[in-house]
Amino acid sequence: MKLFLTLPLILSCIFFETAKAFKHKPAVVLVHGAWVAPSFWNLTAERLRADGYNDIVITDFVSGKITNPPTSTHRDDVALVQEALKPLVRAGKEIIVVMHSYGGLVGSDAIEGFVKKASYGSVGGVIAGVYSTAFIVEPGKALSDYFGGSTPAFIVPDPQNPAYVNVDNPLDILFNDFTDAQAAKYLPDVRPAAAATFGSKAQYAPWKDIPCSYIATALDKAIPPALQKSMYDAVQGQSLRKWPFYEVGGGHASAISKAANVAKLIELADSK
Ligand SMILES: *[C@@H]1O[C@H](CO)[C@@H](O)[C@H](O)[C@H]1NC(C)=O
Repeated sequence: MKLFLTLPLILSCIFFETAKAFKHKPAVVLVHGAWVAPSFWNLTAERLRADGYNDIVITDFVSGKITNPPTSTHRDDVALVQEALKPLVRAGKEIIVVMHSYGGLVGSDAIEGFVKKASYGSVGGVIAGVYSTAFIVEPGKALSDYFGGSTPAFIVPDPQNPAYVNVDNPLDILFNDFTDAQAAKYLPDVRPAAAATFGSKAQYAPWKDIPCSYIATALDKAIPPALQKSMYDAVQGQSLRKWPFYEVGGGHASAISKAANVAKLIELADSK
């Protein structure tokens, strides 16, 4: 008797798990922040690949390279991210956009026009946004609007390139929870950022159109935890749905120091 009741249940569980295993994983576009290089996402990408995410794109900002003339707007970086999105959309992929720090401004604007529309059937598009200790910049505002009236003391002009700014002490501000080996590995990749991007205004609020989540970092010295939470709180009332708010501990570069945790939280954006 018992068998007759449980067998269909077992069979349907097996079917469900199998269907899940064969379901195509979404593509993941990893958008880094100011001062760090694409290598910032290396360890998280490695974890995602190990979990079966094969379409991973890591963007590389123009604002992180010394150009002449210097980048005067974050829109140049937005265009780069959109170039990464286009082939994925054309290939019919569902896409999760993951943003870090300044990348929150860039990635959000890049999603405009790339959201997956249910009515389009199999055509691809962005299905979720993950803000990994990222700025949530409301349209009409710039990063500088979130600094509380003055530029944080750790942001200093680049001595050779006046249009660029550096982090005064990256080991303390960005990598405060790193092992010595991690610091030695990632410090050489730290680079200047085009100063004008800090005053460049956001245009689009993807959280009104797609589910989003926040990965917060308690030891963060670049975007203090209180600022992370206040940016999160500010957009909940205007969002498609309330964002999950996760806490991974660690500092601003938790995608390196807590890569396994960050990867798992990114994957939750795929559970719909
Ligand atoms: C990050 O990954 C890229 C591509 O695989 C590689 O060239 C680079 O050396 C890596 N950087 C670090 C710091 O691990």
